[in-house]
Amino acid sequence: MESTFNRATNFVTRSRVWRSFFRHGMPDNEMDRSLVMTTNIFFHLHPVKVNRRSLRVTYSFGLGIISAILFLTLTVTGVLLMFYYVPATTLAYSTMKDLQTTIPLGQLARNMHRWSAHLMVLAVILHMVRVFYTGAYKPPREFNWLVGVVLLLLTLGASFTGYLLPWDQLSYWAITVGTNIASYAPVLGSTARSILLGGSEVGQNTLIRFYALHVIIIPLGLILLISLHLWRVRKDGGLAGQEIPEERLEIASLKE
Ligand code: HEM
Repeated sequence: MESTFNRATNFVTRSRVWRSFFRHGMPDNEMDRSLVMTTNIFFHLHPVKVNRRSLRVTYSFGLGIISAILFLTLTVTGVLLMFYYVPATTLAYSTMKDLQTTIPLGQLARNMHRWSAHLMVLAVILHMVRVFYTGAYKPPREFNWLVGVVLLLLTLGASFTGYLLPWDQLSYWAITVGTNIASYAPVLGSTARSILLGGSEVGQNTLIRFYALHVIIIPLGLILLISLHLWRVRKDGGLAGQEIPEERLEIASLKE
């Protein structure tokens, strides 16, 4: 006799609402399986066929996806922080202190934002190292490697600009030292420093510039380039992991 659970499952999965979201049942042939992939926006991120070896957790350690999830966490917590933070030299520090001491869950939102930022830098660097050691930067993926380099720079830029926002001694002096280092770059160094600072020293102009870069320009750049990066992974046929022919595995005694 059909169990209550099965009946409930059938009732839900045969309903019109369910079928308007999930248009294919459990596919039992290759054609239907590829249809499921190409007609679903989330599955569509993967190519219809992927390399079996690249699916192993130890191939990519999911570091790219981990970086993307950390970016999402940063966006959500960052928007929450924006409800309180005021980018003015007279208010920035006290609004940060209020967030930590009086606003419900403010400390949690701030810590999540800070920790995710540190972890994202680490995850992106490890992801880049993984791509390098698996040789996944080779043709046809060179362009995506370049997109990745810009993503790394934007990730570091987001951390650098965010560092000034609490407007405490640490941020003030870190940005003073950081922008001084930038001024030693050949030819454009001192111009870059004045553009970043909005003057000759760290002040209100710098704070508002760093804020605009931190909450709008860099995140927009990241969203656009992460989308391009993922789309390229798909168009390049998924992750690079080459299938190793059986005979070679045997010769190298690598067979599991
Ligand atoms: C915001 C930073 C980044 C995000 C969110 C991101 C995301 C991803 C994701 C989700 C994948 C799919 C595979 C995986 O999970 O490993 C991927 C693949 C790839 N990424 Fe990134 N990535 C970032 C930065 C970088 C950097 C810094 C580089 C190198 C300079 C890079 C180069 C590549 C390449 C070449 C692939 C294809 C790898 C393969 O075919 O095996 N990415 N990325």
